[in-house]
Amino acid sequence: MSETCANIIAKQLKNKPNSVLGFATGSTPVGTYKKLAENKTDFSKAKTFNLDEYCGLTKTHPQSYHKFMMDNLFNHVNINKKNINLPNGTAKDFNKECKNYENLIKKSGGIDLRVLGVGGNGHIGFNEPDSVFHNLTHQITLTPETIDANKRFFEKVEDVPKTALSMGIKTIMQAKQIVLIAGADKKQVIERLKYEVVDPRFPVSILHYHPNCTVIFAKNI
Ligand code: GLP
Repeated sequence: MSETCANIIAKQLKNKPNSVLGFATGSTPVGTYKKLAENKTDFSKAKTFNLDEYCGLTKTHPQSYHKFMMDNLFNHVNINKKNINLPNGTAKDFNKECKNYENLIKKSGGIDLRVLGVGGNGHIGFNEPDSVFHNLTHQITLTPETIDANKRFFEKVEDVPKTALSMGIKTIMQAKQIVLIAGADKKQVIERLKYEVVDPRFPVSILHYHPNCTVIFAKNI
């Protein structure tokens, strides 16, 4: 799974060195990032936009997504640090920050290739199951399930932030190409994705409408 995904990213960068890439956090993409670093993939002209960030965590907080990306990928490849973008979880005005993030993506010409993981409840980015799809980057209240799933990265469950900034469903869907990666722990999610109709209560189902989306399962699924 990691190798296939890393190869797709490397191919994209070879064809278009100044690609705009969308990256995700979580344990699933870690292997892909390792491969990209090992293969010395050329990121010198690339620009990146991550999906989301916890509210209240500084860039250097051990559990911030900013720090995760630096530790797992950006510190190991030749990306120009000015070309790395994540929502700012400590912005004074979150609404303004979300608008600003959308504008930055637009100004960059849009995302060429977006890597996605998926939550156990079908969330993408931090777009939690809801009665409607939320279009643009916005502040999200994390569900108890997500807080529970992500507590493994924190000392105690109380330390997990209750809200996050996340790209919206439209922001994600506007990427020209999407690659969803899922490990064996997501078997049930992938089964549900195969058969379920598009429904905001299972956010990942929106990918059925994307014209260029690849889903890669881990070998042992
Ligand atoms: C977090 C992230 C998602 C990620 C999900 C799954 O909630 N916001 O982008 O897809 O975790 O993480 P993991 O890959 O660790 O299962």
